[in-house]
Amino acid sequence: STLPRESWTGQVGFILAAIGSAVGLGNIWRFPGVAYENGGGAFLIPYLVALLTAGIPILFLDYAIGHRFRGSAPAAFRRLGGRFGRWAESIGWFQVAICFVIATYYTAIIAWALSYFVFSIDLRWGDDPVGFLTGEYLQVGEPGLSFEFVPGVLIPLVIVWLVAIAVLAGGVAKGIERVNVIAIPLLVVGFLALVIRALFLDGASTGLDALFTPHWEALADPGVWVAAYSQIFFSLSIAFGIMLTYSSYRRRRSNLTGPGLVIAFANSSFEVLAGIGVFATLGFFAFQQGIGFDQLENLTGVGLSFMTFPAIVSQMPGGPVFGMLFFGALAIAGFTSLISILQVVSAAVQEKASISPRAAALWVGGVCAVISVLLFSTATGLLALDVIDSWTNNVGVVLSAIVVSIVVLWVYRRGRELTYHLNALSTFKVGRTWFVFVAVVAPVVLSYMLVARVIELIVEGYADMPGWYLGVFGWGTFLFLVVAALIGTLIKWRRSPDDFTPW
Ligand code: PHE
Ligand code: NA
Repeated sequence: STLPRESWTGQVGFILAAIGSAVGLGNIWRFPGVAYENGGGAFLIPYLVALLTAGIPILFLDYAIGHRFRGSAPAAFRRLGGRFGRWAESIGWFQVAICFVIATYYTAIIAWALSYFVFSIDLRWGDDPVGFLTGEYLQVGEPGLSFEFVPGVLIPLVIVWLVAIAVLAGGVAKGIERVNVIAIPLLVVGFLALVIRALFLDGASTGLDALFTPHWEALADPGVWVAAYSQIFFSLSIAFGIMLTYSSYRRRRSNLTGPGLVIAFANSSFEVLAGIGVFATLGFFAFQQGIGFDQLENLTGVGLSFMTFPAIVSQMPGGPVFGMLFFGALAIAGFTSLISILQVVSAAVQEKASISPRAAALWVGGVCAVISVLLFSTATGLLALDVIDSWTNNVGVVLSAIVVSIVVLWVYRRGRELTYHLNALSTFKVGRTWFVFVAVVAPVVLSYMLVARVIELIVEGYADMPGWYLGVFGWGTFLFLVVAALIGTLIKWRRSPDDFTPW
């Protein structure tokens, strides 16, 4: 379009929006349990190594590509690819497809959190939270396909979609940035209140001991290192187009690495803070039941949030307020991540079809909403969600990161140019070390992770689910990503993206 490209109002707006994207469900429900299961306090070492050798370096790479070639993922990669840009463009569409898939189920979890925010008020789940979740609320059946709507999920899901579409349609500055400027401080204050309350619960210290006691022998286990790298990837929202797209809306003279460090450390701080809050709360639970901490179950993900936490909230003095803080935080953290994922898709469609940001937001939001509602407000939802999530993150995102690194730095040899670009205006300079991390260390480690994971999925399957089910929802999702990448690339640009001078 002939309109000037949208932009953030300034550096602070960008930083808040990027923190909003990074801080999500991964911080609250994934990090604490993953750390606990992978060496406790000792996990902080692989975690920091992963952050410094892959997380931050790839974050910088995303920023450099998005800012220098200022476009959605497909446009930016195409421009980067020059004469062979079509090949590179398909990487962008692969990332767009990942975001599209994630958007459809991420919304479902935000919708559940919203429901549970309300359920907290009267402890609606009664004294059987597990039965309530799977039976009354989600009405989960056997692994299969059901298209019967579950009204209790449908209504919050539609609400989340309507709000998300409205924010997206508002544009980068007036929609996304404005929401984050309000949401992030609110999230920090609310979550701090929760953590402080948790620290005063009986038994809190048992939980903190469980989380932070280092099990040094874990460092010898490759699985622990893989867990650290995959946590960092998911947590920083890198390598699937989000940070690239957000960085494309920065002004010409922008410090790229300085804010990058702020965002990365803010995200990690929030993770550790969540670890403290969640484990203090779990310590209380073990104490209440008079059992050892190691007998607790369901310490991550859906189990932690929608099975364990409701049970704890029921036993706690002032439980309803605590429940509202927890599910409110989950909903806000999830929502600000959701709009970042949707923006990746919306920006790509906007540029390819040469339509206005608003039109793209409405189309993309509308289509995603319909699919999301059809799939995840039915009894099919919970199980499929788990499988789709696993394949997108463990296969799709990791593959995307490897391909980006190899194609950008080895095939197109853009390392020197991007280093120069990062350093031109940034406060924190990068050099050879950065290049070695993004071009060598990250792809090697990630390839190992990918191969190990794929073998495991093929040999052992996943969560005891039937093979046909994993074929449809797991490998089917992966196939969808590949096909979508091809189709996206084959469609004609309404206005060529190639007439362009990099910044
Ligand atoms: N980074 C987010 C988190 O930690 C996860 C996320 C996933 C964000 C997908 C955007 C898209 O939860
Ligand atoms: Na995160």
